[in-house]
Amino acid sequence: MRITLSVIKADVGSIGGHTKPSERMLACARSEVAEAQERDLLIDGFVAHTGDDIALIMSHRRGKGHPEIHRFAWNTFMKATQIAREDGLYGAGQDLLVDAPSGNLRGAGPAVAEIEFDHTLAGHRPAESFMVLAADKCGPGAYNLPLYLAFADPMYCAGLMLPQMIKGFRFRIIDMDNTKGDSILELDAPEDAYHIAALLRDNERFGIDAIISRTHGEQAVAVSAQRLHAIAGKYTGKDDPVALVRNQGIFPAPEELLSPFAKAHYVGGDARGSHVMPLMPVPLNTAVTGMYCLPIVSCTGFSLDRAGRFSSGYTDFFGNPAWDEVRRRAQQKAIEMRSQGWSGAAMLPYAELEYSGFRETVGKLVERFKMRKDAAA
Ligand code: 13P
Ligand code: 13P
Ligand code: MG
Ligand code: MG
Ligand code: MG
Repeated sequence: MRITLSVIKADVGSIGGHTKPSERMLACARSEVAEAQERDLLIDGFVAHTGDDIALIMSHRRGKGHPEIHRFAWNTFMKATQIAREDGLYGAGQDLLVDAPSGNLRGAGPAVAEIEFDHTLAGHRPAESFMVLAADKCGPGAYNLPLYLAFADPMYCAGLMLPQMIKGFRFRIIDMDNTKGDSILELDAPEDAYHIAALLRDNERFGIDAIISRTHGEQAVAVSAQRLHAIAGKYTGKDDPVALVRNQGIFPAPEELLSPFAKAHYVGGDARGSHVMPLMPVPLNTAVTGMYCLPIVSCTGFSLDRAGRFSSGYTDFFGNPAWDEVRRRAQQKAIEMRSQGWSGAAMLPYAELEYSGFRETVGKLVERFKMRKDAAA
């Protein structure tokens, strides 16, 4: 049986500033998902939030980019937006950037990650377990480093040395600066590891779109790599990517996938999407309320049964106290970076802030510069 996993996430309003969606909004999304299951559009669904973003995690038989699934997600976000408007919440409908999407939500604002596969529970996939990474307050390439380390570096994933993975993984990389459409390059790890790194080091321009097993041809990862300002033409909030990651067996194990997050690596994001700050792993349904506006990431694990349901429960990977140590370090890294205020590397370069109000402030000042007349003065 072919199964598609779709994760579609959007920020459509939040309480007390850009912190978290309201219970009423979440209840609305949950009841829409339950109703879609009743009418057999979805096999299963799960709703959660990371910061102010609501994620719809769904399994179905319609395939990737299916208009009915995408329209369902859009309509659900529209209904939650209506509630946010009625209740006077901040940023109501923020990520719904087009008037009426044509069918596929890619390029319409919400973050989309989807994988379609043969669901046999036999052969090289006797069990189907997967994880959903959902980030808030950060740029589109936030997963570039951790996914590279998990799928291309045996220092982080010793499993890469096993027969099932030793041929490596194919990285499908997207150039997010190309506004004409999806511009893609496929490179194979380990041979092309340095080329992959040369692209992925630029978190704002190049992102991982997919990672595929070279042994089995199975897709392990899908990421919602897109830039909101390329769609909106201006700053409308941060990109806040989601990723779907299948794990175990022919793919890395959860701990191999998550150990790179122990770095709390610096990414673009935070307040007004303008700073360089560490990515803090947090439990599911965490609000953004720290002393800054730290980029955060949650990770939820599920197992698919024979029918494609994942309602047996979920694992909140970053909910484990082991991650408290990383959270403390992330906070410490944040304090260090913010002690530098606006200077140099602490904030994103102007090219990145080009779509924000900073452009206007600096643009007006640049117009006032004059060539010095007297060279000796
Ligand atoms: P268990 O014995 O708990 O299944 O763990 C095995 C393992 O391989 C962990 O990666
Ligand atoms: P969101 O995209 O989560 O709304 O955050 C954007 C922001 O500008 C934070 O200050
Ligand atoms: Mg917001
Ligand atoms: Mg957000
Ligand atoms: Mg956002």
